Amino acid sequence: MNEVLKNGFLGYDASLMLDVVVTALVLIVPWLLYSLYLVKVKRNYLLHKKHQLAIFFVLIFAVGAFEFDMQMHGGWLAIVNKVGEPTRLDGEQLAFVRQMLRVHLVFAISTPLLWIATVVNALLKFPKPPVPGANSRLHKVLGWASVIDLVGTSVTGLLFYYQAFVVTG
Ligand code: HEM
Repeated sequence: MNEVLKNGFLGYDASLMLDVVVTALVLIVPWLLYSLYLVKVKRNYLLHKKHQLAIFFVLIFAVGAFEFDMQMHGGWLAIVNKVGEPTRLDGEQLAFVRQMLRVHLVFAISTPLLWIATVVNALLKFPKPPVPGANSRLHKVLGWASVIDLVGTSVTGLLFYYQAFVVTG
């Protein structure tokens, strides 16, 4: 297998899709902040809608590709401790990383669900083109919860990657 396909491009011997997802998680946060700036400061609701839908599709694609990659490699541990290479994580270190992954999964599983709810509600309840109205209260609650959940996914995902691949690299 090609070196980049096998170990990714960030230089930490992870996997291609893990590196793609880590990069996406870093880039998606400022993109999301920009979309919030558009709606809060610029009051450009249509552009906010377009950016949110684009972020949503990137998110769903990243999650799907990531899951596929994980299955291909036989799970995250097989990527950390690759066959034929020295063991990177075991004992207490492995238990710690496993615990970090559990915390990350709480965010990572709830985020796409919450995003689907927020997007479906917004598409159904706001007029076209979107303007503030009766759905604003609910959308603001769902919207901010989605933002916080995604940032949580990003931060805990990056901490996991750092602990599993960078520290041990
Ligand atoms: C998961 C995707 C989305 C997230 C995370 C999100 C997030 C937010 C947030 C946090 C606000 C409130 C900003 C404030 O406090 O003033 C907001 C406002 C708004 N969003 Fe979204 N949004 C999303 C998708 C959409 C979509 C798809 C539409 C249109 C169909 C839309 C239309 C609006 C409108 C019209 C407002 C203004 C509400 C008002 O100020 O009364 N949003 N959004």
